[in-house]
Amino acid sequence: MGRDVEVFSHGVAVITGAGAGIGAGLARRAGALGMTVVVADVDLDRAQAITGEIRAAGGLADPIRVDVSRAEELDRLAETVHARHGDVRLLVNNAGIETIGYSWEIPAERWDATLDINVHGVVHGVRAFAPRMLASGQEAWIANLASMGAFSVMPCQTAYIMTKHAVQAFSECLYLEMQLKGAPIHVCSIMPGMLKTSIFEASAGAGEPPAAATHRRKMFEMMRDYGMDLAEGCQRIMEQVAEGRFWVHTQPDMTMSAIESRIAFFNSQQPPVMNEAVRELVD
Ligand SMILES: NC(=O)c1ccc[n+]([C@@H]2O[C@H](COP(=O)([O-])OP(=O)(O)OC[C@H]3O[C@@H](n4cnc5c(N)ncnc54)[C@H](O)[C@@H]3O)[C@@H](O)[C@H]2O)c1
Repeated sequence: MGRDVEVFSHGVAVITGAGAGIGAGLARRAGALGMTVVVADVDLDRAQAITGEIRAAGGLADPIRVDVSRAEELDRLAETVHARHGDVRLLVNNAGIETIGYSWEIPAERWDATLDINVHGVVHGVRAFAPRMLASGQEAWIANLASMGAFSVMPCQTAYIMTKHAVQAFSECLYLEMQLKGAPIHVCSIMPGMLKTSIFEASAGAGEPPAAATHRRKMFEMMRDYGMDLAEGCQRIMEQVAEGRFWVHTQPDMTMSAIESRIAFFNSQQPPVMNEAVRELVD
């Protein structure tokens, strides 16, 4: 039995992007463990559907619409959650989008959305919630969604990859800031390998250059065929977060392989080398 059964048996969890995919999987798990789950998503219908599932299973959940790309909406979310439910025990800054295409072909709006959701959504989630967490003096957890992509590079997933490098750096600095404050707040970096979610669905690529559709379809098929079961991955994540680990993995072998390649790249001081399997995805 994992530590999550005890640690997350009570209290409030706020999970962004909880209307689908990993956010939904973590929300289901938090609800099953006994937390009151704020199911926050830009798509209120999705948030309500997941809330309905959690309640039908006997759990407590509250659906709230939020667009994490807007700092003021995260401020409002924090205020609403505190007024309705009190202190937050677990904040998961999960909402994120994939963006595919050559850097110079991605329209400015899609670039901005990718950076605003994936980076600013995490930063402003912390900025909105951390002060009340610190003021409460209670033990709490902040978990940010990085990716094994935080330790690799991938042409034509440039926009996404650079956001995950940024989130990883942010979480490392945030961890140290909490140490400086002596705060009882655990900061975790979640780095999934590949879990079966809707992130590569064709509809999620609206606003990408048309040529990205083939690459997106190949990624969708790879995730469908080789991705880890969502519930299993989310259980692994919750167990490691509950242990207060900074590094939270779903498929550690994949992540360690990326990290080792990265270390070799840094040590070699050579230019980036094309991975031929990646070329096949793009062509
Ligand atoms: N699936 C994987 O294998 C994988 C791997 C590494 C990292 N991740 C990361 O996990 C997180 C979740 O990914 P997923 O695969 O579950 O994606 P998903 O597309 O299945 O779900 C994402 C959810 O976020 C919501 N969302 C999108 N924009 C939003 C916004 N502006 N405000 C609030 N909610 C918004 C969507 O409505 C959706 O419900 C992302 O940060 C992603 O980068 C996923």
